[in-house]
Amino acid sequence: MAWSETQPMPEPILQEWLVDARGLLCALSTPITASLIKQAQQLSVISTISVGVDHIDLTAASRAGIPVGHTPGVLVDSTADLTLGLMLAVTRRMAEADRWMRGGHWARGWQSDLLLGTDLSKATVGIVGLGPIGEAVVRRLRGFGCRVLAWNRTAKEIEGAQLVGLDEVFEQSDIVSLHTALTDDTTHIASAARLASMRPGATLINTGRGLLVDEAALIRELSAGRLTAGLDVFTEEPLPANHPLLALDNVVLLPHVGSATTATRLAMVDRAMSNLHAGMTGERLPYCANPDVYAESPSRL
Ligand code: DGY
Repeated sequence: MAWSETQPMPEPILQEWLVDARGLLCALSTPITASLIKQAQQLSVISTISVGVDHIDLTAASRAGIPVGHTPGVLVDSTADLTLGLMLAVTRRMAEADRWMRGGHWARGWQSDLLLGTDLSKATVGIVGLGPIGEAVVRRLRGFGCRVLAWNRTAKEIEGAQLVGLDEVFEQSDIVSLHTALTDDTTHIASAARLASMRPGATLINTGRGLLVDEAALIRELSAGRLTAGLDVFTEEPLPANHPLLALDNVVLLPHVGSATTATRLAMVDRAMSNLHAGMTGERLPYCANPDVYAESPSRL
């Protein structure tokens, strides 16, 4: 059975479908809760078309002996490219310039003080999280000649980045870019206090997950004109039509498109289908997000 509506599938309908389902293929917009998992007695695999698994209760899946497949690796470059795109779009005011031109304001030709921005090459960029995407962003920044500071949960040396404490990343960078997975520990890692500690005029970039940021605090900083931002992810997705971020000019907004290239989306689907097939035929998933499931309890197949 396949859900082809544009709205995410309501939980009661999914619950009904899962009564006798052996495999589940899903995406970020469908939360797979502990209660759904508990009642899905025949389920032998959950396969999500995403690298992030924060929409799935992994603990409940492991407890139930259900392996969860995801799609690591294939979206690293696309997401890192988009991150650099956002950094440039914000620092060079591209979205604002596009709106200004379309608004018919370009009446005087070249002007020496028109839409002045800042140079990425002269910026200190702070990376929060040196997983594959954080590392790929650092590799790209090396080409721009930026000074790069980085924080990672575990110490990790990488060429072109100076490891510092998390608070220092926020305090000393002109641009802070978030690349940690969303967990209980990283929720609101960009807290009100850390946002307040950022340099005046600094930029926050988020292509990870909305909940990494205290969004209400960020909106306060943006409204005060103290920070700028480039955001591909939000606490609530889709962003409600009356959301305060939509009224702000100093933030570039994208609708969660970090991995949205044709080649990357096809590669993600390919990995997700391999996981689904493996789980439904009793094989170990090639890309498993909860490998503990194989140690802790026999899989349901
Ligand atoms: C993921 O895969 O987790 C991204 O956020 C969507 O591509």
